[in-house]
Amino acid sequence: MSKEIFPIKAFSGLKTPFYYYDTDLLRKTLQTLTSEAGKYGFLPHYAIKANANPVLLKIIASYGLGADCVSGGEVKAALAAGFPAGKIVFAGVGKADWEIEIGLDNDIFCFNAESLPELDVINEIAVRKGKTARVALRVNPDVDAHTHAKITTGRQENKFGINAGQVESVIKHIGTLPNVEFIGLHFHIGSQITEMEVFATLCERVNGIVSELQSKGVEIKNLNFGGGLGIDYQNPDSHAIADFADYFAVFAANIKVAGNPAIHFEPGRSVVAQCGSLVSRVLYVKEGEVKKFAILDAGFSDLIRPAMYDAYHFMENISSCKAEDKYDVVGPICESSDVFGKDVVLNGTSRGDFVAIRSAGAYGEVMASQYNLRELPKAYFSEDLNA
Ligand code: LLP
Repeated sequence: MSKEIFPIKAFSGLKTPFYYYDTDLLRKTLQTLTSEAGKYGFLPHYAIKANANPVLLKIIASYGLGADCVSGGEVKAALAAGFPAGKIVFAGVGKADWEIEIGLDNDIFCFNAESLPELDVINEIAVRKGKTARVALRVNPDVDAHTHAKITTGRQENKFGINAGQVESVIKHIGTLPNVEFIGLHFHIGSQITEMEVFATLCERVNGIVSELQSKGVEIKNLNFGGGLGIDYQNPDSHAIADFADYFAVFAANIKVAGNPAIHFEPGRSVVAQCGSLVSRVLYVKEGEVKKFAILDAGFSDLIRPAMYDAYHFMENISSCKAEDKYDVVGPICESSDVFGKDVVLNGTSRGDFVAIRSAGAYGEVMASQYNLRELPKAYFSEDLNA
């Protein structure tokens, strides 16, 4: 398959498991993303939550993207990586006071606010600091993203955003807050969305919400459509770059609002997923009565997506050219959910072989934990290993 993309010789001296990032692919992805968004003057902000590795953040910042942050830690990481404060947006349903302070102290572009009490606290802190907080309201548009329940966010039953019917009164309330400036609306309906019609539906819904507000004299200077563009977990090599052209074209064709607002996006997964692999070694091959298990030294502490969302990741034995066989690929963690895949077809597998778990650049390294007192995985980059 794609064994040639891995510098296996360089891998042999490294302690496994580790994350391996193909920075050439990341750059190509960013090139495509920025040129497609640029066709329409759209403004992308990279969603730092997908991968906050400082080496990757620096590369992403160098392509002129803004940053979408969801914690004070992410705001700090974005600034350290060189994202300009004027391009940082800060979302999150539960921002702590110290996190709001970091945003205000650094004059970030805007807070995506999710509730009335949050707006009051932002105002209070801004008054104390003698600053004005720019705020976009995160609106819950009640659109079904047709994705996994645990990563769908835009339904009324989800905790996120302000219900569309309450937006007008919240905007009125902002009018009473001296140090909060209302600058627009923010939407994010879910992640790993692969049906483009979902985004068209989102646009229709937003068109309606915006025109109703405008008819009541509300000025909308910015619209932020969040993230969510899915990637091809089945075919990481033949479909290495997400469909940015289609994605932005859907918005360009379906956004129909007056007043020419600036249009923002917050892609995360589609920027970094395909450039990252979790590389591990096979510790043991256990032949049971009904199954063969390939037991890796990587576990769900390194990549939790399969255990948490039943997520599929393409896997390959990058050391072996032997005839294919079927394995349950599992980790060493003492829980039966520590399974990367069942009945996975791999080349004949032996102790010591490298297995690459693909499309792991998004929500992989950032979600790693030290459960079972395991070490956090390290990260290596193609531009260093191939040098
Ligand atoms: N903007 C907001 C407000 C978000 O909540 C998210 C993701 C994004 C942007 C970026 O979405 P993306 O382009 O990556 O789909 N851990 C899960 C995914 C959680 C997504 C959370 N929010 C997973 O591994 O699938």
